Amino acid sequence: MTHPVGPRIIVALDFADTAPALALLERLDPARCRVKIGKELFTRAGPALVRRAVDAGFAVFLDLKFHDIPNTVAGACAAAADLGVWMVNVHAQGGPAMLAAARERLAQCREPPLLIAVTVLTSLGAEDLAAIGCPGMPAERVLDLAGLAARAGLDGVVCSPQEAAALRARFGPDFRLVTPGVRPASAAVQDQKRVMTPAAAVAAGADYLVIGRPITGAQDQAAALAAIAAELGD
Ligand code: C5P
Repeated sequence: MTHPVGPRIIVALDFADTAPALALLERLDPARCRVKIGKELFTRAGPALVRRAVDAGFAVFLDLKFHDIPNTVAGACAAAADLGVWMVNVHAQGGPAMLAAARERLAQCREPPLLIAVTVLTSLGAEDLAAIGCPGMPAERVLDLAGLAARAGLDGVVCSPQEAAALRARFGPDFRLVTPGVRPASAAVQDQKRVMTPAAAVAAGADYLVIGRPITGAQDQAAALAAIAAELGD
């Protein structure tokens, strides 16, 4: 893969409050990693924290998984772009009109972030999909929804490392694959069920690796990041 320019590791800032997130940003080098801000931290700390991270030089993945009517999602994406984030995501299940609206609105922004789709949440199994009226195997739905995202001109999808090879084969080299569920060979698996090592995830086709606790929970967080980067040869 040639398109990822800069660090492949995205550190998930999964903290319940601003202070530990800021402390971690202090310890990390924006030349060595990107960061992800999700729903919990954003709901606590808000746009101010996003701006702090952007101002400190970090490429920020704003992981708010927008899913609403097209006009609302388009506006939310534009607001994310105004914060200066590098990547933003939406649910592919919002449908083609919503994806197109997000894509079009971002195209009007001066510095549009990458627009990435969430396909099927990895917390959903076949029975859950049937319960919400979408029968079928999650892996098939992932490919269908990734196709919807690709046709709408989105830049890629969030996927499990297990799905990366099939998505890469189907959607080609320019479709960004962002994979959580990555664990260095030496780290505990914790509550992740289907993990891969960073090198295996990249070999399967992942462009960016979202890694949380193996870094955030380490005694020396910068050293943990450096060790994973070394595993990748970065
Ligand atoms: O600590 P850990 O490395 O497991 O964190 C992974 C991050 O990726 C968390 O922010 C989690 O919410 C997110 N994520 C995930 N699995 C998905 C989608 C997102 O673990 N399918």
